[in-house]
Amino acid sequence: MNKLALYCRSGFEKEAAAEISDKAAQCGVFGFARAPENSAYVIFECYQSGEADRLAREIAFSSLIFIRQMVVVSDLVENLSSDDRIGPIIDCYRQITPHKDLARSLELLVETADTNQAKELSTFCRKFSVPLRQALKKQGWLQASAQQKSGLFLHIFFIASNACYVGYSYADNRSPYAMGIPRLKFPHDAPSRSTLKLEEAILTFIPRAQESKRLNETMFAVDLGACPGGWTYQLVKRGLFVYAVDHGKMAPSLHESGRIEHCAEDGFKFRPPKRHKIQWLVCDMVEQPARIAALILKWLVNGWCRETIFNLKLPMKKRYQEVCRCLELLAQGLQRQGLKFSIQAKQLYHDREEVSVHIALKE
Ligand SMILES: C[S@@+](CC[C@H](N)C(=O)[O-])C[C@H]1O[C@@H](n2cnc3c(N)ncnc32)[C@H](O)[C@@H]1O
Repeated sequence: MNKLALYCRSGFEKEAAAEISDKAAQCGVFGFARAPENSAYVIFECYQSGEADRLAREIAFSSLIFIRQMVVVSDLVENLSSDDRIGPIIDCYRQITPHKDLARSLELLVETADTNQAKELSTFCRKFSVPLRQALKKQGWLQASAQQKSGLFLHIFFIASNACYVGYSYADNRSPYAMGIPRLKFPHDAPSRSTLKLEEAILTFIPRAQESKRLNETMFAVDLGACPGGWTYQLVKRGLFVYAVDHGKMAPSLHESGRIEHCAEDGFKFRPPKRHKIQWLVCDMVEQPARIAALILKWLVNGWCRETIFNLKLPMKKRYQEVCRCLELLAQGLQRQGLKFSIQAKQLYHDREEVSVHIALKE
């Protein structure tokens, strides 16, 4: 049990591997990452025993960018017979996890990687989870209530119908979603699919209990690169008034809302209107990441906004390094001005060759 299974977007295995190697080294843990190309997961094997478990507790899940879920796993359980897959899984748990921890486990997730090929297993996973859950409960496991904040989530990660990793994640340091993917419904009246990017970003970066305090009808926002209006739609839906900056056309429904002003200007030259204090800046312009980072830094340092969500579109090579470089540029720039802030970046499910970043200034 000295491995981590790390789920990520297909095609970003190298980034997830670089990230976990970096984060593990910061904790003084060393190992090697196996990252099959386009598999949508990475296996990180630690050299010393007990270290995968330590990483699953000590690396703050919210600090991970390319990793969607972090699971401590066994060696691959192979050659499962279709007559009895449950027995070997229970045996594996008995070997790797103390009974008292299993009794305090909260939920079972039977998962696959997020690839088209692996998705063919998802019906099997759904069906298999029913008898497996029953069998685990019979062992006296999965007894914790959903309200409990600590404890284990049990994950069975199938890479083929006869091969799986058996493992767990910590309730207080994990993605709350199966496969690390929030299932969002496309709002039928939204102007573009990228509306789901901002919706997922808000869900990821802003605690639910704070959402109405941090995004509401008393506030003004600027959306740079706004057209046709998917992001503006999310802000207007939450009551904000939005200055939508883009040379393109905004969806008529947003004009009809009476909650936007379309500014056909260059997002790099646009300055916040003096008549209103702008709380939020959002930005989805397709540009070099370092240029976007510099622009966002300018807005924050000048006090033109207090909080921001923006996308960094990634180059083809050295994507992990490029994101780290931009985050460092932002953090150093804010620190130089003596500003207090929180910063978080994540490659969201609805992000493609990009990551989303959230920065909030603190009092
Ligand atoms: C990915 S789209 C934005 C989609 C939008 N977030 C939505 O949800 O509908 C990028 C937009 O950025 C705009 N854009 C690119 N460079 C810009 C610039 N320098 N100033 C203003 N807009 C820009 C493009 O016109 C395009 O509409």
